[in-house]
Amino acid sequence: MTQNVKPIRIAGIGYGVPETVITNDDLTKLYDTSDEWIYTRTGIKERRVVSGNENAVDLGFAAAKMAVENSGINVEDINCVIAASSAPPQLYPALSCNVQSRLGIPNYVPSFDLTAACTGLIYALQVARGLIGAGIYKNILLVAADNNSRLVDWEDRSISILFGDGAGAMVVTEAEDGVDDILSLDVRADGSIGKYIYMNIPGNNCPLVEPCEQVDAKIHMSGRDVYKFVVTTLPKYIDKCIEDAGMVASDIDYLIPHQANQRIIEALQQRLEYPDEKVVSNIKYYGNTSAASIPIALVEGVQQGKIKLGSTAILCGFGAGMTWGAAVVRLREGIC
Ligand code: ACO
Repeated sequence: MTQNVKPIRIAGIGYGVPETVITNDDLTKLYDTSDEWIYTRTGIKERRVVSGNENAVDLGFAAAKMAVENSGINVEDINCVIAASSAPPQLYPALSCNVQSRLGIPNYVPSFDLTAACTGLIYALQVARGLIGAGIYKNILLVAADNNSRLVDWEDRSISILFGDGAGAMVVTEAEDGVDDILSLDVRADGSIGKYIYMNIPGNNCPLVEPCEQVDAKIHMSGRDVYKFVVTTLPKYIDKCIEDAGMVASDIDYLIPHQANQRIIEALQQRLEYPDEKVVSNIKYYGNTSAASIPIALVEGVQQGKIKLGSTAILCGFGAGMTWGAAVVRLREGIC
């Protein structure tokens, strides 16, 4: 693996969520469920969902605008936009291209999306780290925006209870003071268990050839398999990321995990032996917002005073692919 040449600084963070709140009690109008079942199994009480024509581009734009403003970097100085989205409103144009245009980023800067489901923000950070580290770009805007409420089957109570919509963003730049904000970062995938969470794109073959199987465009998930995989894989993997940073768990101030299930968050908390104050969880109010969940938890944690800046945090995520990833990062004063 090549050594990072230029260190990177996390310059600004932001988030955007829809206003519409759907509570667990609201869901009882759709199917046989209860607040008690959902809350005890997942830790979720409510989630935000888009309404009307609102979509992940709107949320991504709001998050990106806030992150750019917080970064103090001018829109004209952004050299690249990377969006992590697995639930965009369109397959193309890419969500990143839409955000680039909405923000008025000039100079035809390269803009592309990557799909790593809920691990997307950490994957995007790894790509940005490589591009800045190699001196290719100086200032990169990362946007994580997902609109899963349009992709779940609202008749399937085992999946639709879990998800909410939202976006988070981060501006990363070359650290001119030489201090690298990424103390360790690693991303992984195991495509052999991709069947645990998948969403097909329906379509038909050319009518002159044998037809293909008809598929639906809904999220399918084997919740138990995902749960077992995550609680057996992620804790050991996080230990390794902390070791790669040359630290021990107690050196790190906060755990900011992907918000998929409160029981998974608690399993990670136990492994790290962290008290509640060190663990950032807002799943109760947002559900699983996919790639956006880590940055939303980070920004909201700072705004609510749960996260003090001038600190360190371990970010960790997992999602369809299966993908997973973790980063130990420095959170400087002024990023939000
Ligand atoms: N309300 C009431 N009952 C329900 C509901 C509901 N909303 N959903 C399912 N049930 C019932 C089932 O029908 C089943 O009943 P049965 O035993 O009579 O058949 C029973 O509850 C148990 O269902 P399970 O699916 O086995 O419930 P489980 O305890 O596994 O919890 C859950 C399901 C919450 C989804 C859990 O498996 C989980 O959180 N898994 C991890 C999911 C996750 O983290 N996904 C990440 C997605 S990330 C991405 O990239 C998209």
